[in-house]
Amino acid sequence: MAFYNIRSWFILIGIVFTLASCSEQEIVINDNGSPNGKAIYKQNCKVCHGGKGDLGIGDAADLSASKKTFQEKLYIITNGSESGKMTSYKGVLTEKEIAAVTAHIETLIK
Ligand code: HEC
Repeated sequence: MAFYNIRSWFILIGIVFTLASCSEQEIVINDNGSPNGKAIYKQNCKVCHGGKGDLGIGDAADLSASKKTFQEKLYIITNGSESGKMTSYKGVLTEKEIAAVTAHIETLIK
């Protein structure tokens, strides 16, 4: 009987670890210590802009068709858009993270 109890503990611990690893947040730092723009995008931007940038939830601009320069994008992400529909990420993401995510959305251009 004692044997079964120990075994069920191991099974329980196994289940807990499996669940814990599923809900683990994606690592947003690259091996070299720089922020991972793609992961930051997934966590912060994908809900509105979609994985490819063209989802358009809540009037979100199509990033895959954006004509804006790197600097203009950086500015909007940092300060929000004029209409306020795109919120400011100042204080939410660091300057380096914003630069990394801007570099990532540049790769979404068709
Ligand atoms: C709550 C929804 C939402 C989220 C989350 C969001 N955006 Fe936006 N984004 C918008 C909307 C809406 C616009 C259009 C703004 C406007 O027209 O005033 C926009 C516009 C932009 C633009 C301007 C593109 C252009 O060509 O005009 C960029 C760049 C951008 N978003 C990047 C991002 C990035 C990067 C993130 C994540 C850090 C992000 N957005 C998160 C809704 C969102």
